[in-house]
Amino acid sequence: MKADFFKYQAQTSPHPLAVEVSHAKGSYIYDISGKGYLDFVAGVSAVSIGHCHPAVVDAIKTQSEKYLHVMVYGEYAQDPAVQLTRLLAENLPESLEQTYLVNSGTEAIDGAMKLSRRVTGRSEIISANQAYHGNTFGALSLMNYEERVAPFRPVVGGISHIDFNSFEDLNKITKNTAGVVLETIQGGAGFIQPEHGWLAAAKKRCEEVGALLILDEIQPGFGRTGTFFGFENYHVVPDIVVMGKGMGGGMPIGAFTASKAHMQLLSDNPKMGHITTFGGHPVIAAAALATAKTILESDLMAQTLEKEKLFRSLLKHDLITEVRGKGLMLVAITPSAEITTEAILMAQEEGLILFWLLFETRAIRITPPLTVSNEEIKKGCKILLKVLDKITTKMA
Ligand SMILES: Cc1ncc(COP(=O)(O)O)c(C=O)c1O
Repeated sequence: MKADFFKYQAQTSPHPLAVEVSHAKGSYIYDISGKGYLDFVAGVSAVSIGHCHPAVVDAIKTQSEKYLHVMVYGEYAQDPAVQLTRLLAENLPESLEQTYLVNSGTEAIDGAMKLSRRVTGRSEIISANQAYHGNTFGALSLMNYEERVAPFRPVVGGISHIDFNSFEDLNKITKNTAGVVLETIQGGAGFIQPEHGWLAAAKKRCEEVGALLILDEIQPGFGRTGTFFGFENYHVVPDIVVMGKGMGGGMPIGAFTASKAHMQLLSDNPKMGHITTFGGHPVIAAAALATAKTILESDLMAQTLEKEKLFRSLLKHDLITEVRGKGLMLVAITPSAEITTEAILMAQEEGLILFWLLFETRAIRITPPLTVSNEEIKKGCKILLKVLDKITTKMA
């Protein structure tokens, strides 16, 4: 399989981990030799309630026996999408009442960018330095990382940047600004939380000048930080909330939610201002609905904060300079990118899946499924500490 993987499948990097996957269940992925890997990455914050959660698998099976794709998004009323968007409205602040379902996080970001221009009639969009919002042209344009953007220029125009957590930079949001796109917790930058009052100040500034605050909840969304959406921790309500990844419980989905008045503008003048064939796909929407219900109807969100405490109590080592993040969106920072890479590769050998972040090269990503057990947390941390011990010995 590995040879064909390299021969036929387009690659994203020169050295993918290339685990040859056989099957996955709960917190484990198994390779074709039968080796089990404890998964502390969850498909990069996507497999929110564990691999092949029975509720998700049942929802997929049940829906796939009724109907698959029947019509482009938005034309027919289809129960899974209707129930999902209703459940979202019921679990979001009142002003966030209509959801547009798409197929990925980056598409949802593009949709939100378009909506901010359509609502305000302005063109400028502001995002934060060190932000990652996806890789389609809209989302890519928000990235202020020349090395990654330059080969693809020209990108979408009218984008400018501010420093995350800079109160002063909020003055750059002006009457020319259509939307301000921010990750609630900066992911690729190193799981940086907003400073006290900063997101609320960003919202206030947006209100003053008539711009829309767009919060990217693609990683914290659906319970990962102890609340259904991460922004609930920071006392702010965005004008548009963008979600994806963990919302699908392992299936591909994205969505953006706004007020009905704003969202309706996408359907008129021009008519069909934003369309997608597969957005709201019934099987995917059924999986997302099952995921949301499982999270909302259990104590998984509360447990997330307890599990964070357990991780923080265990991740103590001379090569861990800091543990950052919230809930089960954590990173262990080591003294160097080299140590981080060695730890991730050695951990994989030992049967523990860890991963990198996009920009903060010293970070070891720890974003397990929310269903990870305390025993699994202890087991995984023991492996990581053992690996760090080995690295320490080698360095001595
Ligand atoms: C914060 C954030 N926004 C957007 C995206 C893009 O989502 P997708 O890969 O589903 O397009 C990601 C993916 O890593 C992300 O972490």
